Amino acid sequence: MHSPLEQKPDYLVCICMGVMHSEVVTAIKDGATTFADLSDILGVGTGCNSCIEEVHDIVREELEK
Ligand code: FES
Repeated sequence: MHSPLEQKPDYLVCICMGVMHSEVVTAIKDGATTFADLSDILGVGTGCNSCIEEVHDIVREELEK
């Protein structure tokens, strides 16, 4: 019943490119600091563009840590 890790469940950020939240976080930890970096590395936002705001939010959250 006890969950040892208080972790947010992973989820799909970019449906078009099949990019998970954890992949975006990993790319940021590896040095990406902008949406453009993540777009280059993972391809996020290169399809329908609907994930762009979400990616910006994740970048903001991660860089504030
Ligand atoms: S969901 Fe990311 S480009 Fe479509």
